[in-house]
Amino acid sequence: MKGLKIVSTGRALPAKVVTNDDMSKLVETSDEWIATRTGIRTRHFCEGEKQSDLAEQAARRALEHGKIDPKDLCACIVATVTPDHSAPTSACLLQQRLGLPEDIPCFDMNVGCTGFIYALQVARGFLLQSGRPHALVIGAESLSRITDFTDRGTCVLFGDGAGAAVVKLEEDSLYACTLGARGDAEAIFIEGPGSERPYIHMDGQKVFRFAVEAVPHCIHVLLEETGLSLEDIDWFVPHQANKRIIDHVAKKLKVPNEKFYQNMMHYGNTSAASIPIALDEMAEQGLLKQGQKILCVGFGAGLTWGGALLEW
Ligand code: COA
Repeated sequence: MKGLKIVSTGRALPAKVVTNDDMSKLVETSDEWIATRTGIRTRHFCEGEKQSDLAEQAARRALEHGKIDPKDLCACIVATVTPDHSAPTSACLLQQRLGLPEDIPCFDMNVGCTGFIYALQVARGFLLQSGRPHALVIGAESLSRITDFTDRGTCVLFGDGAGAAVVKLEEDSLYACTLGARGDAEAIFIEGPGSERPYIHMDGQKVFRFAVEAVPHCIHVLLEETGLSLEDIDWFVPHQANKRIIDHVAKKLKVPNEKFYQNMMHYGNTSAASIPIALDEMAEQGLLKQGQKILCVGFGAGLTWGGALLEW
C-alpha cells in the first residue's frame, strides 16, 4: 500500500503571549485554576496578524524546510474554523501569496479541532490521483476572534497559531487513518460571523467525556487495522486541548505519559493547528527519527474525531 509520509513541517505563532495572570485581569480566574484544570500556562493571541498570515508563514516554513518547489504541489488544504473570510478561502489566498500552480485544488475545510487529520486523508486522495508528488496541508486558527472574553469557562482555553506539513506518498510505507462524526450542537457550538454572539460556546464536561472516549477509540481502530500494539507506537501526538484529557487517556491505556507529546502549556488549544504545531516542534527538537511510528489523534467540534498512523 502507498503510505502517507510527512516530508517537512513548519509553524507560526503570533508575537503576543498572554499568561494566565493576564487572563485573570479579564475574568475571575487564576493561574492555579487554569494550570491544574487544563495544563495551560500561556497562549498566543493575534494582534494585527490574521489567520491567513499565520497559515502563510507556517506553509512557507514547511516548504523551505523540505526544499519543496510549489510547482510540485497537487493540492493546498487549510483546516480551520476561523478563516479571515468565507470567500476567498485562506487556501485561495495562499495560492496567490505562495505562487502555487493554478491547476490544483485549493480549499478550506471546517472539521473543528480534527481538521488536520481529515485534511491529511483528503490530501492522500489527491496525491493518489495526481502526477505531482507533494501536497500542502495546513491547520491555522485565530480563535481569539471568536472567543468570548467575558466567559471564564472558555476564554482561558484557546490560543492562535498555525502548523503546516508537506506530505507525499511512499510505496510500502505504513499508513492508516480513521475518521468519524456525530452531529452535536450542544457540546461545542460556534454561531459564526454575522451573529450577535459569534463565540465558542461549550459544555466543558460533555466535551471532556467525549474526548476521553474518542481518543482511545481512534487509537484502537488504528492498531487493529495495522496489527500493531500500543508498544509499537513511538509517539502519540494528540490534539492539545487539555492536559487532563491526555493524562487520563495515557493512564487508561497504560502507556507511559512521556509517549504522549504535550505542548498545550505554551499555546493553549489551537484547534486544527495543534497537531501540526506539535509535529513541527518535535521535528525541530530532533524527537522524531526516521522509521518511527507516529499516531496523531484529534477530536473536536462537530463532534468529529480522527486518527492517522504513519511512519516518520
Ligand atoms: N477559572 C475559575 N473558575 C472557573 C473557570 C475559570 N477559568 N471556568 C469555570 N470555572 C468554575 C465554574 O464556574 C464552576 O464554578 P461553580 O462550581 O461555582 O459553578 C467550577 O469552576 C467548575 O466548573 P466545571 O465546568 O465543572 O469545571 P471542570 O472541572 O469541568 O473544568 C474545563 C472545565 C472546561 C476545563 C473542562 O471541562 C474541560 O477541559 N473540558 C474539555 C474542554 C475541551 O477540551 N474543549 C475543546 C475541545 S476541542
